[in-house]
Amino acid sequence: MNKYTHVFLGTAFSSKSPKEVEILKDHLFCINSKGMIEKIVAPKDADYHPLLDTYQGEENFHRLADGHYLLPGFVDLHVHAPQWAQSGTALDIPLYDWLNTYTFPIESKFSDLEFAKNVYEDVVSTLLGNGTTTALYFATIHKEASLLLAEICSAKGQRGLVGKVVMDLPEQTPEYYRDADAETALAETEEFILAVQELAKSTKQGVYPVVTPRFIPSCTDEALKGLGELAAKYDTYVQSHCSESDWAHGYVQDRFDKNDAFALHDFGLLREKSVMAHCNFLNDQDAELFAETGTAIGHCPISNAYFANSVLPLAHLHAKGIEVGLGSDISGGFSPSLFDNARQVVMSSRMLEDGVNPSLPADERGVPNSRITIDEAFYFATAGGGESLSLPIGRLAENYAWDAQIIDTNLGSSKLPIYDANENLHDIFQKMMYLVQPENIREVWVQGEKVHSR
Ligand code: GUN
Ligand code: FE
Repeated sequence: MNKYTHVFLGTAFSSKSPKEVEILKDHLFCINSKGMIEKIVAPKDADYHPLLDTYQGEENFHRLADGHYLLPGFVDLHVHAPQWAQSGTALDIPLYDWLNTYTFPIESKFSDLEFAKNVYEDVVSTLLGNGTTTALYFATIHKEASLLLAEICSAKGQRGLVGKVVMDLPEQTPEYYRDADAETALAETEEFILAVQELAKSTKQGVYPVVTPRFIPSCTDEALKGLGELAAKYDTYVQSHCSESDWAHGYVQDRFDKNDAFALHDFGLLREKSVMAHCNFLNDQDAELFAETGTAIGHCPISNAYFANSVLPLAHLHAKGIEVGLGSDISGGFSPSLFDNARQVVMSSRMLEDGVNPSLPADERGVPNSRITIDEAFYFATAGGGESLSLPIGRLAENYAWDAQIIDTNLGSSKLPIYDANENLHDIFQKMMYLVQPENIREVWVQGEKVHSR
């Protein structure tokens, strides 16, 4: 009797460490009924040919075609699902204006469950089609619509971590889009946590509730404190925005006379299961606090180019021991693709390193040692995201979930420029990272189930 639910034969790329991509050439990937990679077998291993003989020709044996390669699914650590409805608009105005004139009006529409369903179905499918197998979502303040997003992730096979957003501070939130008060926001958050935990019981790939104060400026002290307590009580994930822009960073300084990181920590919001988006203005003390508490950074390089007034000193912060993954920040970032975001990680880091002020001497323009390689950017999009969430995802390795994308480099108008049959596999990997379009992503799998194909 065949033991494995699926066996794949192909060449895969997976991060061994932040700096090192492992190339698994013509390996066998044996997937069990729980959707986990139970065994990976190399051509030199004794059981390679016996396994091939057993599975070849069976329906559950998948031999990748020439020019097809396996990558781990992406982990998007910061995405506003409702903002898919405004993606690509008004990215040329400041953050504060963008939130008030575009974002809050759009998000307020999610009181309408029909509207919510249309957008949420599309955004989950779109992310899956872009290779994102796990997403950490902000929904809106509406409990029902937020639960609907979790249900859509569950049904479409995406691993969704979903937060009902809390924003209850009248001075910083419009009347038409605000929780009734802190008490109501906390009660609804608790109901939401329980409902998602119930849904998780019937969701193979996992679905998780996330405690989600939008950011300090939108919340009262009472709400922030209560959310920290709920996170501890139910041992949930926590997400928020931290030290994103001059405006947001300055606001927290004025209100608490300390940086975002310490203010969030005072409310119990920095935990092993916390992911903070942006974090552009973390100083070294803030960074140490992140590392000590196990709080991860959701780095959103495209969004930061528009709204951050700065470039994240990623190499510096990662060297301090902080976990980092990538976020699309739809729609502060316009692209639903973590390929696009990985490309921007490298571009932004080079600008930080080399500086942009030609009136300064070359050695005074930028910040030395800021450069990030494409291998590291790939790590942040995959294994780094998995480590940030403390889940066995983001690698094609034994005892990890079978969350994978099959990339076709031969495809018609999106054919990658590969002309040498013996081209170095790491060069092919780089070309994929820079040039893959959604149409090259032929199949996407989550927890051993096929969730997208084209
Ligand atoms: N800060 C508070 N809310 C938001 C948001 O929706 N997007 C971004 N980029 N920053 C925020
Ligand atoms: Fe955001």
